[in-house]
Amino acid sequence: MITNLVDVHAHTIPGVDDGSRNEQVSLEILKEEYSMGMRHQFCTPHMNDRSEMEAIPRMKQLLEHLKAACKADCPELNLYLGYELGPDFDILGAMKTEGEKLTMGDTDYILIGPLFSGQSNNMMDMFYDLQTAGYVPILAHPERMGYYQKDPSILQEYVEKGVLLQVNAPSLMGRYGDTTKHFCRELIDHNWVSFVASDNHRAHAESRMYKGYEYISRHWSSELADRLLIENGLKVINNLVIENEEPLGWHKTKKSFWQVLFKK
Ligand SMILES: [Fe+2]
Repeated sequence: MITNLVDVHAHTIPGVDDGSRNEQVSLEILKEEYSMGMRHQFCTPHMNDRSEMEAIPRMKQLLEHLKAACKADCPELNLYLGYELGPDFDILGAMKTEGEKLTMGDTDYILIGPLFSGQSNNMMDMFYDLQTAGYVPILAHPERMGYYQKDPSILQEYVEKGVLLQVNAPSLMGRYGDTTKHFCRELIDHNWVSFVASDNHRAHAESRMYKGYEYISRHWSSELADRLLIENGLKVINNLVIENEEPLGWHKTKKSFWQVLFKK
């Protein structure tokens, strides 16, 4: 039994974004994940521009309410506030003017959600600015974006410059299709991934964190599963530096995985 899973990306603050629509749903998600070993979760509602920061006091209240509501069923669960920030958001400017942290809890880690509609032009500049100011950017679920699938060298540059990648457990299970699944596997094969998270928006009658842990253990190793679903998350919580294995360059030979798979 796994008992210390850390989810760094979930939409479980009720009624504030496209995630859980009420506290009942949030409790359902948390109980399911808790029963299968999750003990820490960063609740990371979407936030795309400064005007949305008005909702932060309400988010804090809702989180405190959620913590109290899940105490009986999930006594050892720890919830932290974070955000999934839009890539065109002037994060540093907003934090300075509003006097409000947009980090994962009280750490230096910042979660950025890429756009599905197309690549944002200034991602590398934004990462650079955040890093220069002492923050550590985490890019959420890049495996789901067609533009990264088509040109992994963009991600390679990010990773080589210290941006951490977080993939979604359901990507590994094929929930978003085979292309995403195989791309996700390749990102892990290349040592580009630092976290596997749930990105839970609603209840699924299964623990995405446990499924992800089990999948990584089976296809790679339990050591890697520990790193991607427990240890690196604990480092975020404790604001410690995450050191990954040397990222591998995107080898053409790796693409033969597809050829092997589809017998082409
Ligand atoms: Fe998300």
